Amino acid sequence: MSDTTERYINNLLGQMTLEEKIGQLNQPAAGDRISPDVVQQGKVGSMIRAASALAGRDTSGSEDAEQANIIQLLAQESRLKIPLIFGRDVIHGCRTIFPIPLAQAAAFNLELVEIAASVAAREASACGIKWTFAPMLDIARDPRWGRVAEGNGEDPYLGSQMATSLVKGYQGEDMAQPDKIIACAKHYVGYGSAEGGRDYENGEISEPTLRDVYLPPFESAIRAGVGTVMSAFLDLNGMPATANRRLLTNVLRGEWGFDGFVVSDWASVSELINHGIAEDKAQASSNALHAGIDMDMCSDAYIETLAFAVQAGTVTIQEIDEAVRRILRIKQRAGLFDNPFTDVSRFTRDVLASDSRQIARQFARECMVLLKNSNDVLPLKGFHKVLFAGDFSQARGELYGTWSPDSHLEDCVPFEQAMKGTAPEEVDLWFEQDYDRALDYALEADVVVLMLGEHPGRSGENANLSDLSLPPGQASFVDLMVSLNKPVVMVLLAGRPLVITRQMQQVDAVLFAWHPGIEGASALGELLFGLSSPSGRLPITFPRATGQVPIYYNHKNSGRPLTAQGWFTSRYVDIPSSPLFPFGYGLTYTSFEYSNLQVGHSKHGNVITISADITNTGKRAGNELVQLYVRDLVGSVTRPVRQLKGFQRLVLQPGETQRVTFNLTEEMLAFCRSDGSWGVEPGGFHVWVAADSATGLRGEFSL
Ligand code: NOJ
Repeated sequence: MSDTTERYINNLLGQMTLEEKIGQLNQPAAGDRISPDVVQQGKVGSMIRAASALAGRDTSGSEDAEQANIIQLLAQESRLKIPLIFGRDVIHGCRTIFPIPLAQAAAFNLELVEIAASVAAREASACGIKWTFAPMLDIARDPRWGRVAEGNGEDPYLGSQMATSLVKGYQGEDMAQPDKIIACAKHYVGYGSAEGGRDYENGEISEPTLRDVYLPPFESAIRAGVGTVMSAFLDLNGMPATANRRLLTNVLRGEWGFDGFVVSDWASVSELINHGIAEDKAQASSNALHAGIDMDMCSDAYIETLAFAVQAGTVTIQEIDEAVRRILRIKQRAGLFDNPFTDVSRFTRDVLASDSRQIARQFARECMVLLKNSNDVLPLKGFHKVLFAGDFSQARGELYGTWSPDSHLEDCVPFEQAMKGTAPEEVDLWFEQDYDRALDYALEADVVVLMLGEHPGRSGENANLSDLSLPPGQASFVDLMVSLNKPVVMVLLAGRPLVITRQMQQVDAVLFAWHPGIEGASALGELLFGLSSPSGRLPITFPRATGQVPIYYNHKNSGRPLTAQGWFTSRYVDIPSSPLFPFGYGLTYTSFEYSNLQVGHSKHGNVITISADITNTGKRAGNELVQLYVRDLVGSVTRPVRQLKGFQRLVLQPGETQRVTFNLTEEMLAFCRSDGSWGVEPGGFHVWVAADSATGLRGEFSL
């Protein structure tokens, strides 16, 4: 931050009354509760323009920008004319809804992630929103947790890469540009570890695991220049994240040099009372402020109590000044002091532009994961009568997924229309949601495509499950349809991994489509009818049974790892210990062979070079995600059995071979030791060039 900006902020701070300072720390939700004079008195620093994951489906019109401008005008009437920041949950697109974040991770395409986030920023800013509560960077190892849909899966390397791309996409090089918005890395930290997959529950994470697994995506976001961070709801290791000074101040600011501001989650300041570390709002406020929470989202705790706390000496004016300084710094960096208003004419140009829809189509196409394809039943060829049957065979809004408050139903291409637009003309297409009627049609059909899975409301905030199987009734429907002995394809919409162990044995093909967004249906049509090939890979492990979770690929070996006989080695007696599908898994319409692995170590550059040949052995062109994994064989603390350290996409024509090369630096092998120190330890390593986290060509090197 330049000296001029700091001088400007300090000068402003010098003119502010205590009441105005506390006003900057206050973020209420927009609505009737806020009267214009509160804004004119400088008592509101920010407003949140959303109430829940499903709120506001009627908004995101040009009137949003007009309203924002009216409120900014009121702020201009306040004594010091400090503009507000309008925040909103723009999670996977604004009006142009992209696939849910978990699905975005499945595309393993960082460039596309950044482009989509920049589209979201353009649309949101045209609606008067200058701040999104995204990206959600919580590592999730438990798919029972509903918010697994909102994050990027289980892997810290992928999560960190996604964090960088998302922050760059939202904020650009300069967040003051009118089409850029401030990002918010959330939920800091450990939120995905909530016990039993129950949202808001406590978590216990050891320091090495926190450092190696949960913190890296946040550190990447800070390195990418994220403007804000949101604290998590949970109690982590006995200290609520909203009151954790070590993490919010020592690590975030001290170790990583973060100079933006931290906002609490919704009412998480006053919830410190429920956690049992504060008696009342006053104590909750001083705990949170002291820990490093600068802005209070919707508790009204700071605005109601901080002035008394200063008088009583439980918080210092310096602490308040520091929080205000951070908020003003981000307002300044976001260009709000220069121009707090939104150009309302941007709406027609910038919202739902046709190139945005193209990006949404590409993203939807690239995120879907082909899990099974017996006898090459997909792409659908040579069938005259195709029946789409089951819950989502007439899907539209269901394609959007959780957290799409700005979506409009009419923007989404309906499933039926999309299939008609992509299927060859001579094919008869039938669509039937009702199970009984679908059976009648199925008797006449040549192939049945079952459109099943989860409604968006079944994943997302606090939509937790105790049973990851298909929703009630769907498994029996599959039983019935496969009993007709026709080719059956199952397409699943979902916000999380589902347990489909039985269905995998029954149906011929499975395409996992997540909640793919506004162009999801057309993308699905392209894949089903072979205009494109699937290329998504799982960013999270799929269990065989709910009782297997938490299950993740980068686990530790244990003293008694799984063996074939496995009497006194780690196992279940009722199911295999392996997952149904490992992290990184996904098929396409061709096949690949990996060969000629070479591992070279240049001592000078501290770089290990790993290369292999990848050949397309099938009959169609294809897109392969080549993955690099390592294992540190002996460490001073135990190391995971595999860790992802790189990935590259190759497009190969039939019969074509390309050599892929990865460079692994020694720093990438560092980890947190039991005394908290961070470093690389000498010794032997295994390395794999692989198509997923359970297979691959294995080599070795040592440091
Ligand atoms: C609560 C959620 O936990 C958080 O992710 C969201 O940004 C806020 N509500 C604001 O809507």
